[in-house]
Amino acid sequence: MLNKNFYSLFAGTLGLLLSACTGAQQNSPGAGTPSLRETFRNDFLIGTALNVPQIEERDPKAAALIPLQFNAVTPENIMKAEVIHPQWDKYNFEMGDKLVAYAQKNNMKVNAHTLIWHSQLPAFVRNIKDADSIKQFFTNHINTVAAHYDGKVFSWDVVNEALEEDGSLRKSIFLQKLGEDYIVEAFRLAQKASPHSELYYNDYNIEQPRKRAGAIALIKKIQAAGVRIDGVGIQGHWRAYNISLKDIEESIREFSALGIKVMFTELDLGVLPNPWDSDAADVNKKAEYNAKMNPYPTGLPDSIQSKLNKGYKDLFTLFLKYKGKIGRVTFWGVNDGQSWLNNWPIQGRTNYPLLFDREFKPKQAFYSVIETKTTKAGKKDN
Ligand code: XIL
Repeated sequence: MLNKNFYSLFAGTLGLLLSACTGAQQNSPGAGTPSLRETFRNDFLIGTALNVPQIEERDPKAAALIPLQFNAVTPENIMKAEVIHPQWDKYNFEMGDKLVAYAQKNNMKVNAHTLIWHSQLPAFVRNIKDADSIKQFFTNHINTVAAHYDGKVFSWDVVNEALEEDGSLRKSIFLQKLGEDYIVEAFRLAQKASPHSELYYNDYNIEQPRKRAGAIALIKKIQAAGVRIDGVGIQGHWRAYNISLKDIEESIREFSALGIKVMFTELDLGVLPNPWDSDAADVNKKAEYNAKMNPYPTGLPDSIQSKLNKGYKDLFTLFLKYKGKIGRVTFWGVNDGQSWLNNWPIQGRTNYPLLFDREFKPKQAFYSVIETKTTKAGKKDN
């Protein structure tokens, strides 16, 4: 206990030192603020998704804050097939290479996202009709992209979102053209092309029992084929007022019992009404804007803010309880202003799902997360 107390004090001091070393100015968002990456440095990596302006350090506030708070980065879009492999014989590694250099400079790990996914495919793939050409794209894509980043990225989301809500395989172009072994094949190719990076399966809602059972079956199948899979990513696009801690806890236990690491890879807690009943984070599902669906355009009421704080506090208390099984917790974005949830599933809303506000100031939810580590309540389980 004493050791732990000493450790958090030490971690806090280190955080401050780090802000001093990286040149954070007195009134920059970094000054005097605790650091997530330092606070949880003995527990799990703390990641964020980055977009192009952030990778290129175009906004000084973002450029100052990101290296202080995060030690893992996931490209929000630039390693998806439509960007990195725009034409049959053309690959575009420019932004991905910039991300790798950025991460090296700031002592961060890159989780590459993602090799095989039915969404954000380049137009030429969506137009392919025959199975042979899909197979060739699939093989070339994994071989070329995974090999280019072998060892330069810490991990790959090899396959993203291959399951339906009932746990069956999604009827994607890959399932239809390649048959149900395509997932094992994707991991087999990735293992060969990228022997020095960890390989994960990533999906949303796989904490829910039916979809979780599908994910477990899929992971067991990969393992039974003698193919390497190192971890599973639970995306974590949840709602602040409706988080199933029980499902999440069971998932951590069941997935880690398979001998793999568990990651929370795209965490954000939306606070806006849902246009439909299901919680699916399907990027292709869209709904029409109306003012009722955008209830907090000028600020979040305290009653909702407190739900967000509690949601984050409960989650991180749980994550700390299972820190030995969790490799990384990544937020899907840096601040509320650039979160995809302002435009999905309805364009033009004002959402508040992350720990930093539109001015990059830490929100109450940020301190709720830090406190799970530094207060007595948080420590009980730790
Ligand atoms: C989202 C990005 O945040 C958006 O910018 C993009 O327009 C659509 O994709 N699950 C995933 C992520 O695996 O890649 C998605 O990212 C969000 C849902």
